[in-house]
Amino acid sequence: AVEREQYRPLIHFTPQKAWMNDPNGMVYLNGTYHLFYQYYPDSTVWGPMHWGHATSKDLLHWEHQPVALYPDSLGYIFSGSAVVDAANTSGFGKDGKAPLVAVFTQHDPKGEKQGKTDFQNQSIAFSFDAGKTWTKYAGNPVLKNPGIKDFRDPKVSWNDDVKKWIMTLATKDRITFYSSPDLKSWTKESEFGANVGAHGGVWECPDLFPLNYEGKKHWVLLVNLNPGGPNGGSATQYFVGSFDGHAFKPYQTDTRWADYGPDEYAGVTWSNTGDRKIFLGWMSNWQYAQVVPTKTWRSAMTIPRDIRLEKVGDKYFLASKPVDELSAIAEKPLVFQNVDANDKRIANMKLSGAARLDLNAAKAESFSITLLNDKGQKVVIGYDKVSNQYYIDRTASGKVSFEKSFAAKHLARRLSTKDELNLTLVIDVASVELFADNGLTVMTEIFFPDEDYSHVNLQSTGSFALTSLSYAKLKAGR
Ligand code: FRU
Repeated sequence: AVEREQYRPLIHFTPQKAWMNDPNGMVYLNGTYHLFYQYYPDSTVWGPMHWGHATSKDLLHWEHQPVALYPDSLGYIFSGSAVVDAANTSGFGKDGKAPLVAVFTQHDPKGEKQGKTDFQNQSIAFSFDAGKTWTKYAGNPVLKNPGIKDFRDPKVSWNDDVKKWIMTLATKDRITFYSSPDLKSWTKESEFGANVGAHGGVWECPDLFPLNYEGKKHWVLLVNLNPGGPNGGSATQYFVGSFDGHAFKPYQTDTRWADYGPDEYAGVTWSNTGDRKIFLGWMSNWQYAQVVPTKTWRSAMTIPRDIRLEKVGDKYFLASKPVDELSAIAEKPLVFQNVDANDKRIANMKLSGAARLDLNAAKAESFSITLLNDKGQKVVIGYDKVSNQYYIDRTASGKVSFEKSFAAKHLARRLSTKDELNLTLVIDVASVELFADNGLTVMTEIFFPDEDYSHVNLQSTGSFALTSLSYAKLKAGR
């Protein structure tokens, strides 16, 4: 047996070697999920960006593919998206074959050095072999920079109301929408966000898509932000509203987060998945991503998540849950039912590798779940009734000194107003993802214990009535 590298996740995507950040160009094509990603193959820190590539049938078992896009004279290949141009609007189609078209930012490091403001431009490329090889369009860039330093991360989708492609672009402190009939010529439609949402940093990696709630269509605008996240550093905020093919109007302007933990960033969704919307984020934070103690590679992606709208009162919120495909890799669960406890340990379970825990309680009372090893290193996940907050505390999780903000307890408000509480944890070797109240509150957190955690304890703080708990080992995804 091959010895497992320290901190290499079992069920989360990582590059075989070297540096990775944002997921890019995610598209579902002929039964295969494609994941491209920001990749620098020559180092374990950020550098000249390429698009790495991996494919999967189930979103969990990934096959590594050759690097898809290389930097060229127009610059590095930054984040972007991919669409299936089924109607051949671009005219790139060949012998009746529809092209896969990638839309991405080219970042010119020379222009940046010279202090120019127009060094980020949007380019396109097309592929006929499912993203293995690409031809860059000779007319690149297709959308030129009007003098905005941060002008990047195009997310493109077909809009059936106006019968045009819509590009959602991050432009410094706002989103700018563009439209195009052919993916080659782009017209500015509108701007959104100068005075709404969180602005602690630059707006990056947006996404715009419709979601139905009880048969009615609403639009979700994801906007990644760095820094200025709810628990420091980079994070994903979102707005729910309407989009008429020209402009986005939010229903509310308060700040919402797709994930309150420190370690989900640049999260966007797969294109071409029909009514299903699947979200994936980079499982790190720009505050420390380049100094985390992994040796041959840096960073993993989150578990893919099915997202939908939920209503709390009269407001719409985004809710996430791990994709259903995860149940296929779960072993037979350990089940506890109807335990009333007062200030005591309710369950002590063995952990080796990856696991999933699902808990239900009739009333939202304080409790904690601790992942720990024999060295006393631990991550504590829980709910505090008094402050009505979920938390993840990695202060004593193991290696923490590589960056000053890493050792911390992170908080997230409980959004649900229901009496009953439920929670799902997806645990891997170096991460935990918390989905509370059917995914209304989500937190993602990474950690680096000196020895893998070997136990999971459930503890009540005060009185706690457990309705049910199910705990299952997850089989390695590779
Ligand atoms: C977000 C980001 C994007 C950019 C890419 C560069 O993490 O900064 O805005 O396109 O990473 O790697």
